[in-house]
Amino acid sequence: MGRVEPSQLQAPLGFTRAEDVSPDDERPGLLRARTLPFSVDPEDAFDYRSCTIHDCTDPRATEPGLEQAGFETVDLAGNAPLQAALATIRDDDRITETAATALRASLGGARLHLRGGKALRIEHVAEEGLIHRRAGPNGLDVNPGGMQGANGHTAARTVHADQDVFGTPLKQMMKGAAPQMFRHQTPDARNDEASLFLLNLWIPIQQITRPLVLMDRRTLDPQRHQLRYGLPVTRFLDREEESSVNDIWTFLPDAEQKWFFRSVMGPDQAYVFDTLGEPHGSCMLPGEDALESLYRSLERACEAISAADADALRGAASTDAPELPEATTEAIQAAWREMTGLLGEAASRADEVTSGDAWLHRARAAMDRVVRKSVEMRLVATLVSN
Ligand SMILES: [Fe+2]
Repeated sequence: MGRVEPSQLQAPLGFTRAEDVSPDDERPGLLRARTLPFSVDPEDAFDYRSCTIHDCTDPRATEPGLEQAGFETVDLAGNAPLQAALATIRDDDRITETAATALRASLGGARLHLRGGKALRIEHVAEEGLIHRRAGPNGLDVNPGGMQGANGHTAARTVHADQDVFGTPLKQMMKGAAPQMFRHQTPDARNDEASLFLLNLWIPIQQITRPLVLMDRRTLDPQRHQLRYGLPVTRFLDREEESSVNDIWTFLPDAEQKWFFRSVMGPDQAYVFDTLGEPHGSCMLPGEDALESLYRSLERACEAISAADADALRGAASTDAPELPEATTEAIQAAWREMTGLLGEAASRADEVTSGDAWLHRARAAMDRVVRKSVEMRLVATLVSN
């Protein structure tokens, strides 16, 4: 060990396949991606490309800003009511109605300070779009009950942008006024004058795996690589028939695109990013496959302890430690050390470990730490001078 955390890594990002792209009949000059059924296996249905992702945690990295690049990290540590609401969500491992109300109250009228002396004044927190996500290392499913309202969502597996300023549902909600009201960049139009933004606020409860990755939008060629996409939403949103398909964006990959992430992130920080076009998605970092394998071994070990079966515990804990790649993050290395340490302990002291519950608590905490958890919501905010 003792390696230096790299300021960049290679990770696969999921894009639309070239064969799913066609000219857009409704908006000539634009491209469109074919809508895929929900049941598709992402590995088959998307074009996963190894991309360089730049770690903003690294003090040597210079993260671009919201107005220029489409996203920015903001500091939330000073908002005590918000931190209290996030602590409740962390403890409950879900968003309750009470927590949702507290979150909204903590943000209404609040200011988010941006670099360069400006701030976002939050005018409104949208009713729709408050979501809690839980995503296991390397794609491991940690939502056995599936989606239930705001809860049980996994991480987005592909690069997308959330809303088309000309499309559903903004078209219906704002009767066509959204392009005049909101700052936006769209392949066939833009509004650089408006001070009103429609933004995603993305807050990690914890994130050492499955990080959110965001593009510096100045490196996007929207005419060639931004695609209109119809996303059926009745499966997870309560919508009328005319608003049953959201107009969003997907993307094609290109070597010029520059991507950013954070290798460690907690609830004291969040991203704000442009709902109307900022490309984003989650990725799996190098080393997550090893963490998934350790998670599964610890899970089997916990089951053996619950069954008071020391032999089964020895069996579950005696597997060879999966190797980590040379290029990974400090946080993933630390999680690997903790998990392999726990398994080593269980293998060598199986009888003692089986008879108490101290090891069990530590193992469950270590497993929990490698699950990415995040909260996101939609904001209407005005850009103001600080
Ligand atoms: Fe999104």
